[in-house]
Amino acid sequence: MSAKSKAKKAELMPSKRSAAMQASPIRRLVPLADQAKARGTKVYHLNIGQPDIVTPREIMDAVRNFRDEVLAYGPSLGLPELRQEIKHYFEKLDIMLSVDDVMVTTAGSEAIVFALMAVGDPGDEVLVPEPFYTNYNGFASMADIRLVAVPTDVEDGFSLPSKAEFAKRITKKTKAILFCSPNNPTGAVFSRSDLEMLAGLAKEKNLWLLADEVYREFIYDGGYHTSILHIKEAEDRAIMLDSVSKRFSACGARVGCLVSRNPRIMQAALKLGQARLCPPTIEQVGAIAGYKNIHKYLKKMVNEYQHRRDIVCDELAKIDGAVFTKPKGAFYIMPQLPIDDANEFAQWMLTDFSHQGATTMVAPGDGFYADPSKGKQEIRIAYVLKEADLKKAMQLLALGVKAYNGRR
Ligand SMILES: Cc1ncc(COP(=O)(O)O)c(C=O)c1O
Repeated sequence: MSAKSKAKKAELMPSKRSAAMQASPIRRLVPLADQAKARGTKVYHLNIGQPDIVTPREIMDAVRNFRDEVLAYGPSLGLPELRQEIKHYFEKLDIMLSVDDVMVTTAGSEAIVFALMAVGDPGDEVLVPEPFYTNYNGFASMADIRLVAVPTDVEDGFSLPSKAEFAKRITKKTKAILFCSPNNPTGAVFSRSDLEMLAGLAKEKNLWLLADEVYREFIYDGGYHTSILHIKEAEDRAIMLDSVSKRFSACGARVGCLVSRNPRIMQAALKLGQARLCPPTIEQVGAIAGYKNIHKYLKKMVNEYQHRRDIVCDELAKIDGAVFTKPKGAFYIMPQLPIDDANEFAQWMLTDFSHQGATTMVAPGDGFYADPSKGKQEIRIAYVLKEADLKKAMQLLALGVKAYNGRR
């Protein structure tokens, strides 16, 4: 075969990077859910962290009242008024910042990608307690960073691994520890002493600390949240990633921020930010209104989620063989169920199961692990539905587990 016809035959392929990226475990079963709906089955969605709480009126009004005649580019660091409001919001949490420490990003997702790209070069490693928010896999692929998992365990409420567990995974390529508290998918909340341990280790090994705190306010049973920005020892190495998505039930706004007191990191992040020009302008105007009125709705929202968490735990307790600990925060739980393959189970719930015309969609656990052979008996539940729907969804889940195990 001539070189010319060989070249003709060669298929044009997308990159290895995109091929290696996993399909989102939260979204990959959506076609099956759509087919179930087309058959007339009602599907309760516990698979995705899309809150059903109404977005605050002040945010919507600010967006509706946006009157500029040109929807222009804004500053790469975000609108100055929003950066001021964010600074002010942190002051009320006893976190003193300068406006220069705050960069507005296109949601928390971009803040995490920027942080990874700012601390690591291709091939570098970042430690992360596992299971972890599934999109960290995708973000790490984009930044060409290798995530190194540090396992946590359902049996002890997914508490933070010991210093030794982190230390033994540190290599010359390790640049940072990435962690999320309150945690998605486990609902674990790391204590001040946990963060102090991480800060001590990071100092010893000269690592950055990337703290994903997008669920900061979602803390239950009168507990409180410690931010990495509260930890003195981490001051020069902490990079905090945040978002308005969950706090204001405004996931579509795509506004978040990256906060660090380290000017080098802020410079690096600014360069990345300049390459994407600016975060969305109108949504930032909405976010300003959100932060100005935050005192009006947080408490009510958090109480509602605590109530939902209790419903989920009560219903899970009725499933023989389910293993879980009551989550302390966020709006997720990752129970181990008496099933052999959560992936197959989650699919089966959509393709084969329905009770009185309804079924429940959950996210299989394997997608929340770096090694997809793990989490085979776990599912992630997002308790984002109203009481009656949530109860129904959980009861369907229990019936589904029974029917699934009885089918052979
Ligand atoms: C732990 C965690 N971090 C970051 C994000 C990204 O949030 P967003 O990009 O909507 O701000 C999410 C979204 O679900 C999340 O759960």
